[in-house]
Amino acid sequence: MTTATTEDLVRTALDDVLDPEIGRPITELDMVSSVEIDGATVVVTVLLTVSGCPMRDEITTRVEKAVYALDGVQTVRVILGVMNDEQRKALSVKVRGDRAEKEIPFAKPGSLTRVYAVASGKGGVGKSTVTTNLAAALQAKGLTVGVLDADIYGFSVPRMLGVTDRPTQVDEMIMPPQSHGIRVISIGMFVADNAPVVWRGPMLHRALNQFLSDVFWGDLDVLLLDLPPGTGDIAISLSQLLPSAELIVVTTPQPAASEVAERAGSIATQTHQRVVGVIENMSGMTLPDGTVLEVFGAGGGADAAAGLSRTLGADVPLLGSVPLDTRLRTAADGGEPLVLSDPESPAAQALLAIADKLAGRPRGLAGMSLGISPQRAG
Ligand SMILES: Nc1ncnc2c1ncn2[C@@H]1O[C@H](COP(=O)(O)OP(=O)(O)O)[C@@H](O)[C@H]1O
Ligand SMILES: [Mg+2]
Repeated sequence: MTTATTEDLVRTALDDVLDPEIGRPITELDMVSSVEIDGATVVVTVLLTVSGCPMRDEITTRVEKAVYALDGVQTVRVILGVMNDEQRKALSVKVRGDRAEKEIPFAKPGSLTRVYAVASGKGGVGKSTVTTNLAAALQAKGLTVGVLDADIYGFSVPRMLGVTDRPTQVDEMIMPPQSHGIRVISIGMFVADNAPVVWRGPMLHRALNQFLSDVFWGDLDVLLLDLPPGTGDIAISLSQLLPSAELIVVTTPQPAASEVAERAGSIATQTHQRVVGVIENMSGMTLPDGTVLEVFGAGGGADAAAGLSRTLGADVPLLGSVPLDTRLRTAADGGEPLVLSDPESPAAQALLAIADKLAGRPRGLAGMSLGISPQRAG
C-alpha cells in the first residue's frame, strides 16, 4: 500500500537538500517557494539566487532525488524561478549576517582556516602550478579548500584548475565557482577575454580586500593564495589584510633564483608573517637511462631555506623538491592538476608529500605567530 505524501513530508525531505554553493539546506535559505501535490505528482518550485546560476542542474537533481525517495511519489517536477532583490538581500543577510562593516572572515580571531600565500621572487618558477596541485592534493585528502588567485597581472589559476564557470553575485556576496571541489576566485573571472589588467596599488588592495571579504568562501580548512612574483603591492596588502597568512616560497634550483626567492620571503621580517617553508620546483629530471638532468642546476631550494632561516631567525624547512616533468605542464594546460590526473608520477608524488606536511599541521590558531608588531601611529 502506498501512502499519500504531504507537503510537510516533502519539506522535511528537502531539509536534507543542500545548496551546492552555500552548503546549507535550501529550505533554510528560503529557496523553496512552493510545494504542490497532486496525487502521486509533486511539483516543487525552487528560487535560484540568480537566473544564470551554474548550479541549476545540480539543484534540480538533488531535489528530485530527495522527493522521489518519499513513499507514494511517482512524478517529481522541479520548477526553477529566480529570487527578487529583496529575497536575495534576505538570503545574503541570513548567510553572512547583517554586516555594516565589511570584514574578512579569515582575519577574525576565532578563524580556524589556515591561509597559505604562495610567493616567489620571480615569475615562471611554478607558483601557480604548485598552488593548484597543492589545492587539489589537500582537497583529495578531504579538506575543504579555496584558492584565491591574487596574481592580478598574470592570473592563470582558472585555466590550471579547469574552471569554466563564472562567479555569481548574490546581493553583495560573490559566489565562487568550483572545480574539482575547490572554490576558486581569480581576477581573470572579472575581466573580458583575457584583457590585460593595469591597476595601481590602491586598486590592487581593493581587489584583494574584496576577494577576501565579499567572496562567500564558506568554512574552509585551507585557503591558498597564488601571489604575483616579487615583493610588490599585493604582498604588502596581504600582510595588512591578513596578518595571519603564512608564506610558502617557491624557487627553482638555480642560485640566482634562490637569492631572489629569499628576498621575497624575507619581506616576512617586516610584515611579521611566518614562512612555512620553501618548495624547490623544476628540480632534476630523471631520464629513462637513470641519469638525472639538472636543467636549472641544483641546491637552490636548500640554499633559500637556509638563507631564510638565518634572516628570519626561525627554522624555515625545505618542504620538498618537485622535478621537472612535462606532464606537470600538460596536466595544468588541460585543467586537471597532475596530482589528480597522474598521482603516481614522481612530480605528483613530491607535491602530494608536501601536501601531507601541510595537512599535518594543526588547523587554526596553534602555532600561529602572535603578530605583535610595533604600534603604528595614527
Ligand atoms: N616542475 C615542472 N616541470 C615542468 N614544467 C613546469 C614545472 N613547474 C611549472 N612548469 C611550467 O612552467 C610554466 C610556469 O609555471 P607557473 O606555475 O605558471 O609559474 P608562476 O606561477 O610562478 O609564474 C608553466 O608553463 C608550467 O606548466
Ligand atoms: Mg602564476
